[in-house]
Amino acid sequence: ASTLGAQAAQSGRYFGAAVAAGKLGDGTYTGILDREFNSVTPENEMKWDATERSRNSFTFGSADQIVNRATARGQRVRGHTLVWHSQLPSWVSSITDANTLRSVMNNHITTVASRYKGRIHSWDVVNEAFADGSSSQHRPSVFQNLLGNGFIEQAFRTARSADPAAKLCYNDYNIEDWNAAKTQGVYRMVRDFKARGVPIDCVGLQAHFGAGGPPSSFQTTLSSFAALGVDVQITELDIAQAPTSAYANTVRACMNVARCTGITVWGIRDSDSWRSGENPLLFDRNGNKKAAYRSTLTTMGGT
Ligand code: G3I
Repeated sequence: ASTLGAQAAQSGRYFGAAVAAGKLGDGTYTGILDREFNSVTPENEMKWDATERSRNSFTFGSADQIVNRATARGQRVRGHTLVWHSQLPSWVSSITDANTLRSVMNNHITTVASRYKGRIHSWDVVNEAFADGSSSQHRPSVFQNLLGNGFIEQAFRTARSADPAAKLCYNDYNIEDWNAAKTQGVYRMVRDFKARGVPIDCVGLQAHFGAGGPPSSFQTTLSSFAALGVDVQITELDIAQAPTSAYANTVRACMNVARCTGITVWGIRDSDSWRSGENPLLFDRNGNKKAAYRSTLTTMGGT
């Protein structure tokens, strides 16, 4: 096939992009989006600060825009994200009582996941809960500090009840290198969840890479997680300067692992990227395909 989404679909995978609601009026942007991608992730619109700015007062306008548009075009949607320490309104981070926080967290998950029930392919239920450089430490957050490690399990159980059909993912960065302590920490958590029947279906590896691309152990990491009985997804891919070989190595690792079910790039054009100074994406500022586009497509077997 001659587009990313169509080629990925030939092996039952998806190829997605992070999408910003504010750009849906840009015809160059939507032209590429609809031609190339069969999955979208709202870049910011489903985060807590966008959906529940004050307690139990929910706003879904921008998220609805993205979900409705994608659904109408047969594109999948990755939900991002239900519980994260960042982009968290201060009314949540200033809670000091564990029981209050538990009910606030469960209410948030239930309300957001129920609204999109049946329309989300995968949810990033918990994002970035592990600390860098450690196999056991979780990152400090109001959730961790008041509820302990158990907040992650609680979040997954609540999400499963709200939308039983969605695949439930743990999503993080710096877990691409099999030899990194953080990777081992997440691996042990997933193994423990599977052993105890905590509902987890997938691990999202963000894959924000430097110019060197993925670590040499990347495929081992993907296959090791998959061997636990979960899918793996590359959820936020971007690579400094977008070297063709770095993109090819990333895509090849996914193609080589049967349970690597999809790849999402974190934006469409370089100018859309949170790291726009590094030109890390597949399309240039004018919306033209870059060399990395071609290597990505051909690595998947497309022409
Ligand atoms: O919406 C406001 C707007 O009203 C205001 O005028 C403007 C002025 O700064 O800010 C806007 O909010 C910004 C938002 O993006 C929407 O553009 C925030 O300041 C800015 O911090 C936010 O950045 C996002 C970042 O997450 C926040 O942590 C990036 O767009 C987004 O790409 C990035 O994505 C994260 C993933 O969710 C998780 N993994 C890492 C990844 C990169 O940081």
